[in-house]
Amino acid sequence: MNTAPQRQTDRLYERVRPFIPALEWPVFATEIDAILELKRARDAVILAHNYQTPEIYHCIADIVGDSLQLAREAARLDARVIVMAGVYFMAETAKLINPDKLVLIPDREAGCSLAESITAEDVRDLRRQYPGIPVVTYVNTSAAVKAESDICCTSSNAREVVESLGSRKVILIPDHYLALNVARETSVEIIPWMGRCMVHERFGVEEVRELRRAHPDLAVLVHPECQPEVVEEADFSGSTTALARYIGERHPTQVALLTECSMSDNIAVEHPEVQFIRPCNLCPHMKRITLAKIRESLTSLCYPVEIDGGIADRARAAVERMLTL
Ligand code: 13P
Ligand code: SF4
Repeated sequence: MNTAPQRQTDRLYERVRPFIPALEWPVFATEIDAILELKRARDAVILAHNYQTPEIYHCIADIVGDSLQLAREAARLDARVIVMAGVYFMAETAKLINPDKLVLIPDREAGCSLAESITAEDVRDLRRQYPGIPVVTYVNTSAAVKAESDICCTSSNAREVVESLGSRKVILIPDHYLALNVARETSVEIIPWMGRCMVHERFGVEEVRELRRAHPDLAVLVHPECQPEVVEEADFSGSTTALARYIGERHPTQVALLTECSMSDNIAVEHPEVQFIRPCNLCPHMKRITLAKIRESLTSLCYPVEIDGGIADRARAAVERMLTL
């Protein structure tokens, strides 16, 4: 009888077996072993967004979640080094909350079409155009844009944040569709910006109707960065973690997640009883983060996130105001 202890990576493979062929696993396992060792040596933690690939999400991450959860957890960490397996604005948010820690992003080009849609000067222009109207900024923005804002929000608290300000009118930037979706749920008048998520804007209402025709029992869950017509056609709309929670609580037999592709993969591991119908779009920014780059990040301590002091103080205030709600 073979009494050799099962290697940690063998146990991890059970979680990701549907996504990684057995033949390729030894290559993944070598990277994972090295990363787990480096994390200990560096006193590092890895935060991973729900859109990261299963080998990152299930095998090396210490904390997984949506943007709000990652920001909240970043505020509680006592490790010396934080590696953000996500996109640049998420790493910046972690750095804002942890100015004395070393925050690393494994690929500096991991951006976001929403963050790129607006500059700090655009926000100053909006303030000149709408004097006295508070500015709520989605976390999917640069620190410079956050610094021009009154408060931040994420997809899981946007309406709550908008309503917390006690203003009849609010500027909600930069995601146009998120702003329109929040406007449908609140009596506060929303002034939007024209940013779009390149992943979610591609889902169309006809796609949802076709899915329903093909799968009559289907639960259609969408992210609020989708067009309002798509959200209206869905059974539920919420942040990435809210979508996962819906499945955990309602156990639909068949589900379509209209969001980034790795979401279904990551949740399917926990819910083998649910059939995932998989229309999805890849986020090229999220997919820049790989095991090899995370290993390199921990080896060479690259790439440290730095934020200009004046910007950081004002951006931190907008993030912290959201976190205290
Ligand atoms: P969540 O905060 O819902 O995870 O969304 C982040 C994101 O980038 C969605 O595209
Ligand atoms: Fe940005 Fe959309 Fe990618 Fe999220 S999925 S990081 S909003 S481009």
